[in-house]
Amino acid sequence: MVLIKKESPLYVGVGVDGNYAASDPVAFVDKTNKVIPLEDNEMAVITAVDYKLFSLPDMRPVSREPIVVDIRPQMVEKGGYPHYMLKEIYEQPTSLYYTLNVQKPYLEAVAELMNRARVNFLVGAGTSYHSCLAGSYMYSKLAGLPTIPVVASEFIQQYGSTLDPDVALLLVSQSGETADVLRVASYARMKASTVMAITNVVSSTITRLVRLYIVQQAGPEIGVAATKTYTSQLLVHMLLALEISRKRNKIDDETYQKKLELLRQIPRLAEMVLKNSDEKAKEVAEMLKDSHHIFYLGRGINTATAFEGRLKMLEIAYIPSSAFSAGESKHGPIALIEKNTPVIFIAPNDSSRKQILGNVMEIKSRGAKIITLGTENDRELREVSDYFIGIPEVDELLSPILYVLPLQLLAYYSAALKGLDPDKPRNLAKSVTVE
Ligand code: AGP
Repeated sequence: MVLIKKESPLYVGVGVDGNYAASDPVAFVDKTNKVIPLEDNEMAVITAVDYKLFSLPDMRPVSREPIVVDIRPQMVEKGGYPHYMLKEIYEQPTSLYYTLNVQKPYLEAVAELMNRARVNFLVGAGTSYHSCLAGSYMYSKLAGLPTIPVVASEFIQQYGSTLDPDVALLLVSQSGETADVLRVASYARMKASTVMAITNVVSSTITRLVRLYIVQQAGPEIGVAATKTYTSQLLVHMLLALEISRKRNKIDDETYQKKLELLRQIPRLAEMVLKNSDEKAKEVAEMLKDSHHIFYLGRGINTATAFEGRLKMLEIAYIPSSAFSAGESKHGPIALIEKNTPVIFIAPNDSSRKQILGNVMEIKSRGAKIITLGTENDRELREVSDYFIGIPEVDELLSPILYVLPLQLLAYYSAALKGLDPDKPRNLAKSVTVE
């Protein structure tokens, strides 16, 4: 077999009983975990017993030892769940626990470079972009550091001309292969800006393009809909924000330790939320599954949660959905509210609780069906809701990690109840390797 790598990822798997090739080592991990990532313009000639690498166009032989990837076959099995997506939703207490152990020296180094930069951009696509949006609240509120979240496909046109050596970019991509993000990485390198990344895949292309990267440690994610990698990205942003806030003397040692302690509670709280909201999510999904349109509204950092909940619902259950910052609803979207239009509010008991309750009342008075996610002891919110999902009290900046969990379940059950395969949504791929 002759292979040539150009832009999209390509790996050779070196096995005992044969050699393999795929765009992701997950495809052959039941045969071998020894892999050779090919570089652009390299050719591999593989047979069952041998492999040779060459650099093109002059066919210069290349010698490169295989690396061992930390993916075991059981990690890519469904483990008794009907779909990978549900398995990965339920893996979040564990993946969050692993993410808490990301390598400290890398966190410190990224925090240092972000702190030094004149401007910081956070860049990603889809779900990873939503983590950037939530992250921008964490950096600002906890560390007093302004950051600009930008959708990768828009970055070069919108901000390319502003890049220089004093600018830092934190690229977020679970796969590390998203073409729009990789293009930003190459462009920003050309401009001598500091380019860093958060990724879940150690051997991905992005790790070879950036100066520094943090590996999320969430374990392989097979479902096309990103779930555990999203909450893990949120946690990495939070760990970084905490490091930066210390560097900028925004918090003392005692507060730092207290915040770390709160972070350590997150896996346990995530487990509780999943356990307590599963049945309710099924019940709400039954009501939502035939909807023509669903609205998701949040405020502050949970505007990102509204965006992410909407993306999950439309990409796997194919239900048209819109998400807005709740403050925007009376600037237009409220015109679409009719009797029984389902509207989901993300309404924790935080600094925007009072305003969002006002938004709930505005929308309720137009006859909408009100579904709320709020603090479990929030009786007032429960009483004005048609459906209420209670979440344990949690620090405002950590709330997106817990509040997105029932929204993932809601999307999953809506798709499953419609007889759709949530792992294989139409027209979508796990890694979008074309622009
Ligand atoms: C998420 O559910 C989507 N499938 C998609 O939006 C995804 O987040 C996006 O393509 C970015 O992927 P990445 O994190 O691998 O770069």
